Amino acid sequence: MATVLAIETSCDETAVAIVNNRQVLSNVVRSQVDTHRLYGGVVPEVASRQHLEGVNPAIAQALEEAGLGWDQVDAIAATVAPGLVGALLVGLMAGKSLALVHNKPFLGVHHLEGHIYATYLEQPALEHPSLCLLVSGGHTSLIQVKACGHYSTLGQTRDDAAGEAFDKVARLLGLGYPGGPEIDRLAAQGNGQAFRLPEGQISQPGGGYHPYDSSFSGLKTAMVRLTQTLRSQIPEPEPLPMADLAASFQGAVVRALTKRAVACGRDFGLETIAVGGGVAANRGLRQHLTATAAAQGLRVLFPPLHLCTDNAAMIACAAADHWNQGHRSPLSLGVHSRMPLERVMDLYETP
Ligand code: KG4
Ligand code: ZN
Repeated sequence: MATVLAIETSCDETAVAIVNNRQVLSNVVRSQVDTHRLYGGVVPEVASRQHLEGVNPAIAQALEEAGLGWDQVDAIAATVAPGLVGALLVGLMAGKSLALVHNKPFLGVHHLEGHIYATYLEQPALEHPSLCLLVSGGHTSLIQVKACGHYSTLGQTRDDAAGEAFDKVARLLGLGYPGGPEIDRLAAQGNGQAFRLPEGQISQPGGGYHPYDSSFSGLKTAMVRLTQTLRSQIPEPEPLPMADLAASFQGAVVRALTKRAVACGRDFGLETIAVGGGVAANRGLRQHLTATAAAQGLRVLFPPLHLCTDNAAMIACAAADHWNQGHRSPLSLGVHSRMPLERVMDLYETP
C-alpha cells in the first residue's frame, strides 16, 4: 500500500495531492484560470511563473491537510508529459528535489494516464481491462486500458480536441473562458434539435467512415456560418438564440463522442467505459452516453466533477499503481511536450 505525494503542473493548475493507493488523503488545486481568462487562453510563460510561486505552498498545504510528515510518504511523483514544457519543468524539478532531499523513490507520470486513473479513485473495485474515453482540452481519445502502464489508442481526433471545440465555440458566442462549463450551463436551457449540425466523420481509404476517430473542425466552421446567417436575419441589438445554439452544438459533440465510444466498447468487448478529462464534467455527455451504453449492455463510469479537470490526486493514484508494480523513474528523467500513451513504460526502470 503506497502513500504517494504527486505534483501536477502540466498546464494551468498548480496541484499537489497525497493518496494512499486509491484513497485521497489531500487534494490541493490552485487554479490559474482567473489570470489566463484575461487573455482568453493559457499563456505558457505566465503559467510557469505562477507554478513557481504556487508549488511550495501547495506542497505544504497537501501535507498539512493529510496530517502527514515526510516519513509517512513512500514516494514522490510529478507529471512529466505531455504539456507545456516550462510548466512541466517546475513540477518535475520540485518532485526530484524532494525525492533527493527526503531519500524517496521518484516516479514521473504521463498526464493522460492520470486522467485514466481519476475514475479508479472513486471506484476502487474497477479493474483492467476497460475502455477509457479521454476528453480534455488537448485530447479526444479512445484508449484500451490493458494493465498499469499498458495502453492502446484505438481512436482519436483528427483536428480539434472536444474541449478545444467547446472553448472555441464559446468564444465565438461571446461566452467566457473556459467555454465548456458556460456552454453546458446554457445548453440546459436550450433545444438541442433547434439547428442541424454535422457530427464530423473521418473517411476511410477503402470507403465508409473510420468508426472511432473524430473531427470537430467542421462542426466549428458550421457554427461560424450558422451564427453569421442568424446575425444577417436577426438585426443587432436583438440577441441570438444563444441557448439553442449552445444546446445544438453540445448535442452534436455528445452524439459524436457517444457513437464512437459505444461502438468501440462493443467491438473490442470492453464492457466498462471510464470517462476522463475536463469534458467528462459535461452533463449532456454524462446523460446521453450512460443511457446509450446501457442499452448495449455496457456500463459507464465518470469521476466526480472535481476529479474530471486537472488535479494531482489522479497523478498520485497512477503513480501508486506503478510503485506497487516496482516501477521507479531515474532522477535523470526529463519532460516531454508530447508523448504517446503507448510509451508510458519508457518513464520507468522495472525490477
Ligand atoms: O482535463 P482538463 O482540465 O485540461 C486538459 O488537460 O486539457 O480539460 C479542460 C477542458 C476545457 O476545454 C474545458 O472547456 C472543458 O475541459 N470542460 C468542459 C466542461 N468542464 C470543463 N467541457 C464541456 N462541459 C463541461 N461541463
Ligand atoms: Zn488534463
